[in-house]
Amino acid sequence: TILILDFGSQVTQLIARRVREAHVYCEVVPFHAAKAALERLHPKAIILSGGPASVTEGGSPELPGDVLEAGVPVLGICYGQQAMVKALGGQVSPGRTREFGRAEVKVTAPCRLFDGVWTDGAQHLVWMSHGDRVDSLPDGFEVVARSDGAPFAFIADEARGFYGVQFHPEVVHTPDGRALIENFVLRVAGASPVWSMASFRETKIAEIRAQVGTGKVICGLSGGVDSAVAAVLIHEAIGEQLTCVFVDHGLMRLHEAEQVVTLFRDHYNIPLVHVDAEAMFLSGLAGVTDPEAKRKFIGKAFIDLFEAEAKKIGGAKFLAQGTLYPDVIESVSFIGGPSVTIKSHHNVGGLPERMDMALVEPLRELFKDEVRALGRELGLPEVFVGRHPFPGPGLGIRIPGEVTKEACDILRLADAIYLEEIRAAGLYDAIWQAFAVLLPVRTVGVMGDGRTYDRVCALRAVTSVDGMTADIYPFEPAFLSRVATRIVNEVRGINRVVYDYTSKPPGTIEWE
Ligand code: XMP
Repeated sequence: TILILDFGSQVTQLIARRVREAHVYCEVVPFHAAKAALERLHPKAIILSGGPASVTEGGSPELPGDVLEAGVPVLGICYGQQAMVKALGGQVSPGRTREFGRAEVKVTAPCRLFDGVWTDGAQHLVWMSHGDRVDSLPDGFEVVARSDGAPFAFIADEARGFYGVQFHPEVVHTPDGRALIENFVLRVAGASPVWSMASFRETKIAEIRAQVGTGKVICGLSGGVDSAVAAVLIHEAIGEQLTCVFVDHGLMRLHEAEQVVTLFRDHYNIPLVHVDAEAMFLSGLAGVTDPEAKRKFIGKAFIDLFEAEAKKIGGAKFLAQGTLYPDVIESVSFIGGPSVTIKSHHNVGGLPERMDMALVEPLRELFKDEVRALGRELGLPEVFVGRHPFPGPGLGIRIPGEVTKEACDILRLADAIYLEEIRAAGLYDAIWQAFAVLLPVRTVGVMGDGRTYDRVCALRAVTSVDGMTADIYPFEPAFLSRVATRIVNEVRGINRVVYDYTSKPPGTIEWE
């Protein structure tokens, strides 16, 4: 076992999945619960996450003393590095240059974590996201790699097996990060590589059975991969005790509702209730412009409808959802932990407190691509498993400002054209997620000899492995012009198209 201590980073679970990728079991625990976790797990090594606090400020989370005395290797990432340096008598100061995004580090000395990965003297791409930096090292440490903004980018005390990195090896934008973590876990800590997706499936099926007993479960389907994988997994665990409900909120993409119904009823032969709730959702969203208010309303309306359906089928005790880890972390942060809320993802943030069904969320620790791997493990068709993610609140969070039926109809057409062109160009699988956004801004245009004063459509396409960080997809200019021309020509109500060039961070993937 590897113990991961969470200091509130948005990406702590990415460390966990990197460890799982090395086929090693791990657990994430809030930093203040380190002592009990050390006694319970006897970990082979400890990884300290990043976090939003600054060790230079009073009251910031401190590294529990037991960690450095446990006699096992420790890897501190970002805040974790700083907390370790401070605990060992080094110095940390607020950085003059803050670094966010890409940076290059240069290897200056050998290190066991570099074996087979990084070579001496070479430059390597990493992903930084920090303000503070280490200024002087504790005894026993040396610098093994540095960057322009962080002279102590990578430090090591090989004798004690203590390592600290200023950058984030756990995000995919640090291309060699996974191999560095694997070296830490397998070579330095000597953990055994025995974890697999098949073992995860077995464990979850047993957990679901234990949780629900003979109770009935109702599962909300969104048409996306997550809820489908959750439904199939739960169906495998409890069969007829499961009823799936598809709430059509009118915020779906073109023809999506029909596809979902066919897929479940005809393909999987899993019973499905189809609720047409467009009018209810649109009237509730009338006049609502605040993104969090929209999310909360949509989440709550979903739960209300589920509860009504649950009553109809004679009292379901459980509500199943395809909640993934990124939905959890960006909504509520680690329970009792110090992360900052970015947005309330529906599935989680929108749940009313009075809800009287218990949640079944078998995918809660997983990331999107792990869910896809689980879907394949469960035998779901590849075309379905490979679909781009679609958020629960649907087009409701892709129409900044007020959501109306007219805006939804306009956006559906623009989005369908964009995706049709992406598929035609053979780019669909190279992109994590692509969609159109309808802005509440009107701009002046000229079509034929007439003046137009219509809305702006923004196109978004990103590459990502887990939705936690993302880069823009670099379309050829000719591709974008083709899409822009088609949208303006074919969709009444849009006279201008722009492309969103923002990575995550600092942007998020969705606009709201
Ligand atoms: P953001 O916008 O937070 O999105 O960068 C990260 C990923 O999550 C999806 N997303 C959601 N999925 N319910 C969901 O099921 C939600 O409320 C929600 N909001 C965002 C988003 O599409 C992207 O894939």
